[in-house]
Amino acid sequence: MSNPQQQADTAELEGHALVAGAARVVGITAVVTLIVIGALISLAVLFSPPDKPNPNLAEQAVTKRIAKVGTLQLQDNTPREPKTGEQVYTVQCGTCHAAGALGSPKFGDKAAWSARNSKGLEALLTSALKGKNAMPPQAGGSYDELEIARAVVYMANGSGAKFPEPSAKSPAPSK
Ligand code: HEC
Repeated sequence: MSNPQQQADTAELEGHALVAGAARVVGITAVVTLIVIGALISLAVLFSPPDKPNPNLAEQAVTKRIAKVGTLQLQDNTPREPKTGEQVYTVQCGTCHAAGALGSPKFGDKAAWSARNSKGLEALLTSALKGKNAMPPQAGGSYDELEIARAVVYMANGSGAKFPEPSAKSPAPSK
């Protein structure tokens, strides 16, 4: 079974097997090296974020938290000061009453106001809050009842009346 030709063939086959084996070893080594390098890179990537968190994100998160607390504190701790009658008049009532627009009693016009003033502050305030004829309701917007009452007193007293300054407890103290 072992003639020279067969031996040569076997030798050649063994040679091939050797080369193939060597190639496989080199190949496996290369693959293992690549895997190790890959693993090292992955580890480096995996473990770098906790060391270097995105500073922008962290900053934004902190800013957001502080802003929320700050806003709440502002709303809780600083209630809005009620506006004075003059402030409310200037912003809201003067639109009509400064010139007597739409048939409204003009500011300072004692003749126009005297009959109205004699009805009493409460009646005047009710008209202002609920509206009267061409005057739309003045409450429910940017001002509360006390502020509207102050504006009524400011206007009425500026036009001959002597109503006391309204307080938070009783916006319309006298009749
Ligand atoms: C859109 C125009 C307009 C605005 C703004 C306005 N008023 Fe008048 N107001 C009138 C008119 C018109 C009358 C007359 C109503 C009537 O007697 O027919 C009037 C009448 C009044 C009277 C007399 C009510 C009565 O019973 O005789 C008071 C008080 C008054 N306004 C207060 C205010 C106050 C306070 C504001 C602001 C917070 C205000 N008004 C804003 C148009 C206005």
